[in-house]
Amino acid sequence: MSRGDIKTKIETKAAKVGIIGLGYVGLPLAIEYARQGFQTVGYDVSSERVLRLGAGQNYIADVPEEHFQAVHASGLFTAQDDYEGAGDIDVFYICVPTPVTEHKDPDTTYIRSAAESIAAHIRAGQLVILKSTTYPDTTEGIVQPIIEAAARQKGLTLGKDWFLAFSPERIDPGNQQFTTANTPVVVGGVTPACTDIACFAVQQVVAKVHRVSSPKVAEMEKLLENIFRSVNIALVNELARLCDRMGGISMWEVVEAAATKPFGFMPFYPGPGLGGHCIPIDPYYLSWLARRYDFETSFITLSARTNEDMPFYVVDAVVRAVASQGVKVSNANVLVLGVAFKRDVDDTRHSPAEKILSLLVDAGFEKLSYSDPHVESFAFTARSGRRTLQGAQLDPAAISAADVIVLLTDHSAFPYAMIADKASLIVDTRNAFASVPHDRDKIMLLGGGDF
Ligand SMILES: NC(=O)c1ccc[n+]([C@@H]2O[C@H](COP(=O)([O-])OP(=O)(O)OC[C@H]3O[C@@H](n4cnc5c(N)ncnc54)[C@H](O)[C@@H]3O)[C@@H](O)[C@H]2O)c1
Repeated sequence: MSRGDIKTKIETKAAKVGIIGLGYVGLPLAIEYARQGFQTVGYDVSSERVLRLGAGQNYIADVPEEHFQAVHASGLFTAQDDYEGAGDIDVFYICVPTPVTEHKDPDTTYIRSAAESIAAHIRAGQLVILKSTTYPDTTEGIVQPIIEAAARQKGLTLGKDWFLAFSPERIDPGNQQFTTANTPVVVGGVTPACTDIACFAVQQVVAKVHRVSSPKVAEMEKLLENIFRSVNIALVNELARLCDRMGGISMWEVVEAAATKPFGFMPFYPGPGLGGHCIPIDPYYLSWLARRYDFETSFITLSARTNEDMPFYVVDAVVRAVASQGVKVSNANVLVLGVAFKRDVDDTRHSPAEKILSLLVDAGFEKLSYSDPHVESFAFTARSGRRTLQGAQLDPAAISAADVIVLLTDHSAFPYAMIADKASLIVDTRNAFASVPHDRDKIMLLGGGDF
C-alpha cells in the first residue's frame, strides 16, 4: 500500500484510528476522531476504564458529555483492553504515561509495551504517532527499533510501507478556550514521507499543524514548552520568597504590574509547588538525557529544586500560623482547601497537596481534613505510612472550627467571601482572596510580603 493509498483512506474517512492509552490525552483525541467520522478504537490496559467506556460512562471532564454520548451511540468509538483486530487499524496513536522512577529517571516501559503491541500487528499502510511526552530520540531510539524488527520480517520498509512520527500533546485540562481542535500541533516524522502522512492524519482533528524536520525536534520542542513553565514558575517562587523575607512587597502586585508591559513579558505566579503529569516530571527527562552527553542542565535542575522546596516552605508557614493561634500542633484543626494540582480540575497527580499533607503528618499534625469539590477522597504517604482522607463538607461550621485554613488550589467553586468571613486564619498560597472583602490580618499570603 502506497503513501497515496493511506492518504486517500484518511481523506475518505475510511481509515480506522487506534488510540493506545485512554487518559487525559488519549480519550479526548479518540472522541475527536470519532466525531469527525472515523471509526475509532481505544485501547487501554485498564479493564475498568474500558468497561466504563463500554457502558457509556465518560470519565474525563474535558470531554463534553454530549460529544461522548454521540460517538458512543453511533458506534464510531469503541474501547477494548486487548488488541484483537488491531491489524485493521490504519493510524495508531500512543498516549501512554511517561512517569519517572523512584530515582527520577525516565520510565519508558509504557511506551515500550505500546510499541510491542503495535509491532505484533504491523502491516503495510500503517501510521504510528507517538504523543506521550518524552526525551529526544525516544521515537527513533525506542519505538522505531521495536516496530521495525517486526516490520522487516514482513518485508516492510519504514517511510515507504509504514510510517512513524512524533507529535506532542498540548491539551490543558480545564481550559475551555483551547481544546484538541483549536490548539496548533507540532509534527516531526522519521522521514519526509512520515511527516507528510502524519501531518495529514493530524489535520483531520486539529486546525493548525506545524511540521518540523524530525521527531527529535518535536520531542525537544515539547520539553522546551514544559521546562519554560517550570523555570519561570521557579523564578517567581524565588522572588516571592524574597518578598516575604524583605516584607512590605507583594509578589502578586509585582507580577500584576509587570504584566502591563505589552511585549517581552509573560506573567507567571507563585504557588505551593508544581503538580500534574508534566511540569514536575519532564525536566527530569531532559536532565537524564543530558548526563549521557556529559552535560549538566543546571538551569533546569535549579528550577526543579526551587519548585520542589515550595511545599516545605508552605508547611513552615502552617506551623507558624498554628503557633500564632496558641494551639499545639497535635491539637490543631487544619483544613486544607483544594488537593487537585490546579484550579477546576480533578487531577491530583503529583499535586503539591500530596507533599504538604505528608509533611504536616510528619510534623505531628493529627487533625487534618480537606475539602475539594472535584476530589472525593485523597491518598498520600507520610513517614508513618499511607493515609486516605475523605473530602469534608465545606460549610460555615467547618470553616469556623478550623484553627487554620490552608488554601492550596483556587477552585472557582469555593465560597471565598464566606471562607474569609468565618475563618480564624488563612494560609493562602494562591492569592485566592484578592477579589473578596477580607481582613488582611487574617490572611498569610505566600509571596505577600508577610508569609
Ligand atoms: N495530562 C496532560 O495534561 C498532558 C498534557 C500533555 C502531554 N501529556 C503526556 O501525555 C501522556 C499521557 O498522559 P495522560 O495524562 O493522558 O495519562 P493518563 O494516566 O491519564 O492516561 C494514560 C492511560 O494509558 C493507559 N495505559 C498504560 N499503559 C498502557 C498500554 N501499554 N497499553 C494501553 N494503555 C495503557 C493507562 O491505563 C491510562 O488509562 C504522558 O506522556 C503525558 O506526559 C499529558
